[in-house]
Amino acid sequence: MNDDHAIDLTDTDSVQEMLSGSGYSDKAIEYYLNRPKMGSLPDANQVSELTGPCGDTMKIYLKLDNGRIEDAKIQVLGCPGAVASAMVAMELATGKTIEEAQNIRDRDIFRILEELPDQKQHCIRLAVKTLQKALDEYGSNNGNNSQGG
Ligand code: FES
Repeated sequence: MNDDHAIDLTDTDSVQEMLSGSGYSDKAIEYYLNRPKMGSLPDANQVSELTGPCGDTMKIYLKLDNGRIEDAKIQVLGCPGAVASAMVAMELATGKTIEEAQNIRDRDIFRILEELPDQKQHCIRLAVKTLQKALDEYGSNNGNNSQGG
């Protein structure tokens, strides 16, 4: 399966050059290339999927125990901005309680990515919304709706 819009990821130098020319920070490019949280979790107890208005899709896998996110991974069918944002969202969510993870905001991800092209800001939104959807669904599946504002 190719989710990279036909980019040859093994040609790291030219990928870096293209992304950097389009306004991605080195940090964002690093997340895009290394993909530390890409994939699925066989023992996930919450799996949720969300498609953004752009048509890109994220499928998230959360392993929760005792109200805490032990591990989080995500499959991304989308642009470099989507991949980088999703990786950061999963890193931020891992180890957090459900409540803490519900408070992850777009700006937290942007701060870590440092720079994305202007027209790619909504990719961060998609990553955050996918995480929130999974947490909401987990909450309603487990009869726990004690979500603070
Ligand atoms: Fe759809 Fe980036 S263009 S998430």
